[in-house]
This record gives sequence, C-alpha cells and structure tokens, in this order.
Amino acid sequence: MSTHDSAGGESLTGNTSASAPGDTGRPANPPSAKSPTGPEDVGPRADKRSERLVATCFGVSSLAAIAFLVVFWALPKTDVAYTPLLGVCLAVSLFGVGVGAILWAKKIMPDEEAVQERHPMYSTPEDAAKTAAVFAEGTEKTGVARRRLLRYSFLGAMGTLALPIVPIISDLGVHPRGNARQLKTSPWKKGDRLTTEEGAPVRIGDLEYGGILTVFPNGNTSPSNSLAPTVLIRLRAGENQPRPGRETWEVDGHVAYSAICTHAGCPAKLYEQQTHHMLCPCHQSTFLVTEHCRPIFGPAARPLPQLPLALDNEGFFVAGAAYQEPLGPSFWERS
Ligand code: FES
Repeated sequence: MSTHDSAGGESLTGNTSASAPGDTGRPANPPSAKSPTGPEDVGPRADKRSERLVATCFGVSSLAAIAFLVVFWALPKTDVAYTPLLGVCLAVSLFGVGVGAILWAKKIMPDEEAVQERHPMYSTPEDAAKTAAVFAEGTEKTGVARRRLLRYSFLGAMGTLALPIVPIISDLGVHPRGNARQLKTSPWKKGDRLTTEEGAPVRIGDLEYGGILTVFPNGNTSPSNSLAPTVLIRLRAGENQPRPGRETWEVDGHVAYSAICTHAGCPAKLYEQQTHHMLCPCHQSTFLVTEHCRPIFGPAARPLPQLPLALDNEGFFVAGAAYQEPLGPSFWERS
C-alpha cells in the first residue's frame, strides 16, 4: 500500500490533487485508485500458489538456520569451510525471511493507493478508534488470521532465525567475572616440556645467544590453548636483571615469557637482540626483556608474564612451575 500526505485535503504530491488542471497546470488524479493487481484479481488458485511460495521461502529460512546450528556444532572450527558455511547459512536464512516478507506483501496483500489527510497532532477518541479499526483491517488483509500455512511457516522462520544467536553469544569467550578462575588458570604446569610448534622438545644448547623460539607445553598447539604460546630467549650471562624472588627462574641465561601482549592480546614476539626490546606490532607496546619484560613504551601497562624454567634429567627445558599471574590482556586481571 502506498500513501500520499496531503494538507487540508490537498495532496502534497500533486498526482492526487483535487484542484482543477487550470489552477496548477497539472492534471488532477482521482484521490484514490485501486490497483488491478490485488489478490482478488488473480483467482483462488494463483492465491494459493502465492501462499505456498511465501511459505517455501520461510521454510528455506528455517532449514538454513538449523543448518547453521549443525555446522556450528558438527564441523571443527579449524576446517576451512567452517566460517564460509556459517556465513552462507545465515545469509540464506535472512534472505529467506526477507524474500518471503516481500512476496507476502506483493502477492497476497491488497495493493491500493490512498490519500492520507494531514491532521492535528493529537488523536480524538474517534481517531483512536478509527486507527484501531484500520490496524485490525490491515491485520485482516495480511491474511495471517485465516492462512494457517503462512502463519505457522512465518512464526517458524522467525523462531528459527533467532536460534543462531545462541551459539554466537555462547562462543564469545569466557565471561570475565563468572569464569575468573578459568582465566587465571595457567596453560602450563610444572614439568611440562618446552616444545617447538612441530612438537620437538628443546634442549639446552639448541639456542644461540640472542636467539628466540616460540614454545608450547608438551606439543599442545591446539587453538583452544591460545594463551599457551611462550617465547624462550637466550641472553648472555649477566644480562638478565630478574625481579626480586625470581633469581632461579632462568636457566643459564635462558628466560621464558608469555608471547601474548598484556595490552590487547596480540602476539608480542618481535625481538630485537641488540636492544633486547620485544615489540608488539599491534599498538607498538615495547617490553625490555633484560628487565623482566617490563613495558617501556606503548599502551601495555604490565610486564609480559614470566614462566619459571628448569631442566629435566635428560637436559630438556621444562616449566619449573605454572605461570604465576594471568596471561593476556590486562582487562582479565582487573576483572
Ligand atoms: S595488543 Fe600489543 S600493543 Fe596492543
């Protein structure tokens, strides 16, 4: 239904003006006209066909929303098709509802033009009653009350469309308050071997002076262990200035720090061996490795957490203890 506004009965659009052609130079149109394309003009069989078409759109939308859930839970998040499939399912679901609604309005609801009179900015009881009647009439015209197929398919599509919101919200990550203990749990524990990304354990002597290596606990490089990446750095004797109480956390000049920036969680692994600066490329936070990775530039407010080091009987590096402080962005620590 399209509507034209008019003042005091005179149309603002011109094509429904009541004035004579000689007054405005424009032809006068009738104040309202009925379109020849209303549902009563196309017959009951075509009407049924339209109803089924709209219901099909809503049904496709529902199936796509359910497919979203199936992909979300059944496919591994590391699968290359995971994100594209989620996007396609959500797009089809939204598209189905949108197309169904448009077809409903175009093919099933009556198409007529009307002139809306401009009126004072308050409603008399009569106007309110008229509005309620128009609303009821509009609802009746949608056919929602008597077309059960349309009603149920539409309600089904709207209901299933809301389903993807549940896993999306539940996948935003741990709640900083409700799961504070989980955030403070170290992904490393005492005795875990320091291993390369390929799973090879690191032995003393593997690193040159000034060398740096990203290590994981016992070869666990799983994305769910995203706070585990740690950098092992070899300093020259006497270069390290440990924090009081952490004198035994290094092994023969080797020190280990979390590779997750304490500002916003980017990987902070750009090591400059002449200056011993560790740079985070996201917002340029710089940490001084020889001084327990304290921040000397940029937005990071606290040092990179240090992992105590030790050697096992075979000369491989192991964690001397778990991390003693929360890993990742400082936000978690404040929670
Ligand atoms: S995340 Fe490292 S500086 Fe912002």
